[in-house]
Amino acid sequence: MTAPADDQRDSADIHLGAAGSTAGQPMSAGELTDVVIDRLQATPDPRLRLIMSSLVRHLHGFVADVRLTQDEWLAAVRFLTQTGQICDDRRQEFILLSDTLGVSMLVDLLAGPSGEGVAGFATESTVLGPFYVANSPDREFGASIAEQPSGEPAWVSGRVTDIDGTPIGGATLDVWQNADDMLYAVQNPDSPATNLRGKFRTRPDGSFAFLGVRPTDYPIPDDGPVGRSLAATGRHPWRPAHLHVIVSAPGYQSVATHIFDAASKYLDSDAVFAVKSSLVRDFTRHEPAAAGEATAPDGARVPDGVPPGSAWYSLKHDFLLSPAEP
Ligand code: BEZ
Ligand code: FE
Repeated sequence: MTAPADDQRDSADIHLGAAGSTAGQPMSAGELTDVVIDRLQATPDPRLRLIMSSLVRHLHGFVADVRLTQDEWLAAVRFLTQTGQICDDRRQEFILLSDTLGVSMLVDLLAGPSGEGVAGFATESTVLGPFYVANSPDREFGASIAEQPSGEPAWVSGRVTDIDGTPIGGATLDVWQNADDMLYAVQNPDSPATNLRGKFRTRPDGSFAFLGVRPTDYPIPDDGPVGRSLAATGRHPWRPAHLHVIVSAPGYQSVATHIFDAASKYLDSDAVFAVKSSLVRDFTRHEPAAAGEATAPDGARVPDGVPPGSAWYSLKHDFLLSPAEP
């Protein structure tokens, strides 16, 4: 019988030398995996025991599968070291790595509604991303989140309801988005810190509205190890244009989600795999109202805050919340 090709060889065939459990016998890769997993059986917390055992099994399997060389192992160690070294209060390269490998969205998908029916109709969640800043200013119904000229105005409105369509008054929408220079306020030292973010509360009928700007496609931070890994694998760093919203209300599960711009060319190739079709919406364009008129040529009312003579966009989006778990 001929020896199997490298890529067909079972990890158990790889012999590692003198560390075998049987004195004098070389230990196979499969035996080493078993020895390490056996050692973990003393872990008191059963969940941690399961996670660590599975991690070792898959990690060893991966190393054996690609027959990782010493140089490649060292390159991986250097990559992870650089990933840690670039992290600070504002930058979390490990989450970015998880995002670009699809792990963040896998965790999100696994955490999603498992029951059929009831929770299945709640608004879908997606990645939080690194640009969320807590304690955004409270803003009134219909207020603008743009504190300086930041792009073409976009009137965003809708309702927050439960999964049966019953309005939820007093729900909170925590909103943040980027400007037409592609940057979030937290990335831009020249921007007011609270530009393009704000907290809104729904009215008793569940309605909300605010004036944002049309978001732009933008690249995730790609000047570090994650950017280099994208380039090395022939991937681009772009995300499709979107607004971020966390919707919460007492007695309901909060949801961190996006509204994606249907016109973006990156919907099918989001660098972080976060697009869900239920979250994609059209931005409707309204041409400027004639001087002194309160409505656009298409009859839409010009929202407060839209500069005279300016075109603007509008979109409607409802959020549905599941009841909190008992
Ligand atoms: C964001 O949408 O803000 C984002 C999400 C994941 C990685 C980078 C940015
Ligand atoms: Fe974003």
